[in-house]
Amino acid sequence: MIADRFHQNFMVRGYAGSWHPSSHDQCSMLSVATSTRLLLRRHRPLPLTGRIRNLHRASSNEISILDQRYEVDGTTNITQSIIAKLPLRLHNQPAHPLGILRSKIESHFHDFARLSSVHPVVTPAKNFDLLGFPLDHPGRSATDSYYINKDYMLRTHTSAHEVETFAAGQSKWLLTADVYRRDEIDSSHYPVFHQMEGARVFKTDKAGIEEVKADNERLSRYLDQSNIVIEDIPHTSPTNPAQPTHDPVHSELVALNLKLSTNSLLLKLFGGGARDAPLQVRWIEAYFPFTSPSFEVEVLYQGKWLEILGCGVVQQLTLDNAGKYLCCFPFSAQPHPSPGIPDNIGWAFGLGLERIAMILFGIPDIRLFWSTDPRFLSQFSENKITTFKPYSKYPACFKDISFWVPEGGVHENDFCDLVRDVAGDLAEDVKIVSD
Ligand code: DAH
Repeated sequence: MIADRFHQNFMVRGYAGSWHPSSHDQCSMLSVATSTRLLLRRHRPLPLTGRIRNLHRASSNEISILDQRYEVDGTTNITQSIIAKLPLRLHNQPAHPLGILRSKIESHFHDFARLSSVHPVVTPAKNFDLLGFPLDHPGRSATDSYYINKDYMLRTHTSAHEVETFAAGQSKWLLTADVYRRDEIDSSHYPVFHQMEGARVFKTDKAGIEEVKADNERLSRYLDQSNIVIEDIPHTSPTNPAQPTHDPVHSELVALNLKLSTNSLLLKLFGGGARDAPLQVRWIEAYFPFTSPSFEVEVLYQGKWLEILGCGVVQQLTLDNAGKYLCCFPFSAQPHPSPGIPDNIGWAFGLGLERIAMILFGIPDIRLFWSTDPRFLSQFSENKITTFKPYSKYPACFKDISFWVPEGGVHENDFCDLVRDVAGDLAEDVKIVSD
């Protein structure tokens, strides 16, 4: 039939060109970010925090956060979009890249306690003071952290739970949680991300020190046979000293245990390369208020050194504080008196899950972790590290177009030029479905 001969069907797969403020997909977040910026430029009179405070005040003197009501005051700078993130706890979804990574690390430290549902609201004392943060530390400022009011804030790091976890009597533990920091908008920064804190303490008596030594021997033997090259630095040095209350020998042994434990974790996460391409790890001197000596560790990945975690020998102040300040932990499950653990020495590390997951799963943009798009979520399954397959960041929008063509037919390229003129780069592909 004529209709069949001269009738061509094209399918144009492209973008809807709109965004939906209620959805969490990457497209909507990028669009929101862009339009917010424009809005701010046009309406300058109030600083951002002022406008947020007024928003809260206009409705009531209280805000509701995870079913608890808090009074707002001059310190309040938490926003509704951040409050909406609090119940999501991506690290607790077993088939989400963050949940998969969390399980992988937990399975490596198989005899460590696993904590992952700790309330995100903390006191500034818990987040900073009990860990020895100086009063003028920039992390305390309202431009860097989310305050609910002068007494409560969202934790900025999982270290905020060190004192209470030690106080609860845990000696080897991993704690995974969502953490909140006010940040710039780009593909590797997001105001909510996920950290895992790992810690281990040993008694300073003879049996405790024997336990460190035995563990160091076991781990050294394992690493000696493994495909890893480690650039090390001294466990303690004049610029990265043992703490004055520590026996320097104990401090060295514990710092070594930290390094060996971390190196074996990195091998589990990033190892497995060819014999002639060993995993390369390097240790760097660092400073954290709550550890001494302190370190950062990096791995060489695709020709670049990537910082993976911060760690160190836990400041004795943290262990001494464990138990002394339970009044500061209104959300701890079972407040109970504890003597603290002054006769212990230990190490801790803190790592960012997104940063590692982006490398392992090949996820190019941190905002994708928040996607509820099945094209993202269906790519991953429990206990498997798979490479992310990119898809359009906009929702797909199919158009079937059919039309009459002149007797000589229309070349596909003519039609493609037509589409390009109208849709520009928004059209992803054009296919002839029937001729
Ligand atoms: N809390 C630190 C941060 O968020 C990371 C960190 C560094 C954790 C050293 C630790 C540590 O436990 O020992 O940047």
